[in-house]
Amino acid sequence: MKILVTGGAGYIGSITSAELIRAGHEVIVIDNLYQGHRAAVPPEAVFIEADLADRKTLSEIFAAYPGIDGIMHFASYTLVGESMEKPFLYLRDNLTNAANLLEAAIAAGVRRFILSSTANLFDRPERIPIAEHERIVPGSPYGESKFFIERTLHWMARIYGMRYACLRYFNACGDTPDRGEDHDPETHLIPIVLQVALGQRPHVTIFGDDYPTRDGTCVRDYIHVLDLASAHILAMEALDRLGERRYNLGNGQGFTVREVIETARKVTGHPIPAVVGPRRPGDPAVLVASSDTIRAELGWQPQYPDLETIIASAWEWHRTHPYGYDDK
Ligand code: UFG
Repeated sequence: MKILVTGGAGYIGSITSAELIRAGHEVIVIDNLYQGHRAAVPPEAVFIEADLADRKTLSEIFAAYPGIDGIMHFASYTLVGESMEKPFLYLRDNLTNAANLLEAAIAAGVRRFILSSTANLFDRPERIPIAEHERIVPGSPYGESKFFIERTLHWMARIYGMRYACLRYFNACGDTPDRGEDHDPETHLIPIVLQVALGQRPHVTIFGDDYPTRDGTCVRDYIHVLDLASAHILAMEALDRLGERRYNLGNGQGFTVREVIETARKVTGHPIPAVVGPRRPGDPAVLVASSDTIRAELGWQPQYPDLETIIASAWEWHRTHPYGYDDK
């Protein structure tokens, strides 16, 4: 298939692009390089530096590359904390960009779409692990923006026959030997812990140790980025028979912040000092996914469910790319 990947220079988008190419698909990447890195885009992919805010350019892209079979939409503002400080970046820009993309895609006859959605739809889950039928309570303008896009897709299906899947990622992590997580600023736990091991930070701050969990720190479901990539590819290949789908994507197993740090100590051999700080506003105590639906419907199976393997893959990339991509 010929797949248009927005945000294909970013962490999850670039690794999924590389996996698509490995599986024999053709990839066209659009990225504005706001967070993404030109060096992360696989050399076999077509790369177009463009902004989804620019509707004219989007129409030109669909005209210049006819026969696009499907879209994977990764490009987005993605930080829960930032969305509480700059809500319009999320409530306006994330939505407008997705609507611009969908409008141009529909005009060009594209009817397959995979959305990067989020566990931030489930701020107050009543049941752990969290299944797709859990009540949606977005935890931030970021989560709300993804919920709006999920709803927009529903109407695109009703009105235009769009086939789509929304993949709600829990905590994406891990790297491949060639591509990894390189955000500026970095806010995610695993890369921060590894920056301590590299001597780039004196310690990691644990955001609260008074949660009702086994060691008082938050529990998250860490899922390897390659397992996310395989879910995207399986879903895209199955969309014609699926129609409309929403899938929660995680390992179904939760680890505490302290367990992540302890595993990173084991993997890196570094003491990784940790200090306890206050809670980070907006952090739920426990987020663990039930991925039973995607397992049953698509036969998806995580290949890297083990936390030590995940952190070792991230350590390999961070150790060999201590300053991330060279285009900074
Ligand atoms: N944490 C720390 N110290 C740090 C960084 C993080 O203790 O320096 C803790 C957080 O409080 C949280 C856990 O580590 O309990 C994981 O935090 P991350 O920032 O790595 O990830 P989040 O769970 O906050 O967010 C991720 C994605 C979001 C997505 C969300 C859905 O980054 O895009 O999962 O749950 F919306």
